[in-house]
Amino acid sequence: MSGRIPREFIDDLLVRVDIVDLINSHVPLSKKGNDYWARCPFHSENSPSFSVSQKKQFYHCFGCGANGNAIGFLMEFSHLDFVEAIEDLAGFSGIDVPREAVAYRKEKQDYSALYSTLEQVAVFYVEQLRNTSQGAVAVDYLKDRGLSGDVAKEFSLGYATNDWKALSSRFDEKLLMDAGVLGSKNGRSYDRFRGRLIFPIRDKRKRTIGFGGRVLDESLPKYLNSPETAVFSKGRELYGLSELLEKNSKPERILIVEGYMDVLALAQFGVSYSVAALGTATSKMHLDLLFRFTSELVFCFDGDVAGRKAAWRAVEASFPSLKDGRQVRIMLLPEGRDPDSLIREQGVEGFEGKIEGALALSDYFFNYIGKDVDMETIEGRSLLMARAKPHIEKIPAGYFREMMFGRLEQESSGRALGVLKPPAILTGSPRKKRAGGGVKASPVRIVVAFLLQNPLLKEVFDQKELDLSKMVLPGVDVLKDVLQAIEKIKPANSAVLMEYFRGKPNEKIVNTLISWDFFILSDGVEAEFLGAIDLILQQMDEEMLNGLLGKEKEHGLSLEEKELLKKLLVKKI
Ligand code: UTP
Ligand code: MN
Repeated sequence: MSGRIPREFIDDLLVRVDIVDLINSHVPLSKKGNDYWARCPFHSENSPSFSVSQKKQFYHCFGCGANGNAIGFLMEFSHLDFVEAIEDLAGFSGIDVPREAVAYRKEKQDYSALYSTLEQVAVFYVEQLRNTSQGAVAVDYLKDRGLSGDVAKEFSLGYATNDWKALSSRFDEKLLMDAGVLGSKNGRSYDRFRGRLIFPIRDKRKRTIGFGGRVLDESLPKYLNSPETAVFSKGRELYGLSELLEKNSKPERILIVEGYMDVLALAQFGVSYSVAALGTATSKMHLDLLFRFTSELVFCFDGDVAGRKAAWRAVEASFPSLKDGRQVRIMLLPEGRDPDSLIREQGVEGFEGKIEGALALSDYFFNYIGKDVDMETIEGRSLLMARAKPHIEKIPAGYFREMMFGRLEQESSGRALGVLKPPAILTGSPRKKRAGGGVKASPVRIVVAFLLQNPLLKEVFDQKELDLSKMVLPGVDVLKDVLQAIEKIKPANSAVLMEYFRGKPNEKIVNTLISWDFFILSDGVEAEFLGAIDLILQQMDEEMLNGLLGKEKEHGLSLEEKELLKKLLVKKI
């Protein structure tokens, strides 16, 4: 299919399709008065404020303001581009999309036979898992690894029996070849994935486009992936995205992990917002694809040397995609763990606590490029400049870019007593149980948790001479309370302190913070603690900055305030 879609066709389509039917097939509507209503699919709410007008062929949400016609709905709801939405809409009404011939465009192939073959092969693999004796061995393997039948079903796991001709005796060989499921050797073709557990890979439109296959024993290679085909490209696709979107089309964040099994284990434990790059480094295309669905990405890597390298590559790849409003964070796992093992060990709360504590890309970046630089010397500082600049220059124009330059200037001016080290505690973050509903790991809470767990740190805290009366950050009252308690009872340990709070208003939060379990890096507790205090200072600056920016817009600023704003902007990360 090539060429422009004729305007009249689009107009006609919008007349033929009833938006009520269309939306109702995705989000059940109920009629009230003249309009149809549902809970809005674009934001979360308890009572319906999403209305569909048959008369206007238009939807509108009174809660979040989303609105549009049938095409707009499909673009938003199914995350399609304009042409894809029209194709879907035409499909919904059972008509073909005509194309005006456009000479300069290369004829685009019709891949429907290929997609349909891939789908049929996927179904076949599922059947083989369920209904063959070899499949039963694969089922046992899944059970041994603790995967539930529900997850296996949700992700349509399958099995390719150890048979060289299982596929070619059933499907068209040419199509199988094009689909990438056959290999060939000495002119003879064979089933590429034979003897492997099958993970079907789908695109964002839920079409099967390829497969991953894992052996059930120790043989190598452990995983095989589909080769690049007309419809599958590793650099563009992510495992688990289709299943993720099925559950939540606008997730708050998406977690990028390394393996198929990680995605499955996380989903089983209810962390159903992860995807895996298919054995390749994450590309800009991956990031841009994911940022269509969410504003925050969290990369999750093994904490070993290879994982840190991969994390750095991910950071580098992220810069060109970091428009304002998009966020990337980096989460390093303890060595030798992957999300699959970690979530089984620590449960959802522990795992999500780690996500909360993942480092902002900016912190990770400055930490990484500054780690072996001697900031006491001009040579060191200029080295930092030279290293950082080419990366920051890749960030699209906007506040974030300016602020990164501001921070670079600050770091390399030497004003920031030594290197501003992001606290590694944030890579480790609270483990154990968190108070009902979860308590976020904010800098203030982290400082409080450190104090509770190491009351002697109060001395270090006092040396910083923070003006608590000027602090308006959430959690400051608990901080004051805890400092007073330590002053008063000079507790020998946390248990004493905890006891002091029994029956007092802050008992619950104190207990929660005491239970947080930090993953302290080699620099030691005190360094981590100081890092957390620095974060509070940054946060205070940020509050002030926002206040000034708001005021500037509304009433303008005094000269003095302007100076302050300028200073803050330069300082800002
Ligand atoms: P890992 O070796 O870390 O495996 O590869 P894993 O995901 O923990 O798998 P299990 O737990 O041993 O089953 C991570 C990812 O790298 C790709 C796969 O996508 C895998 O999920 N990979 C790995 C390959 O493509 N080929 C391989 O031979 C190995
Ligand atoms: Mn694993």
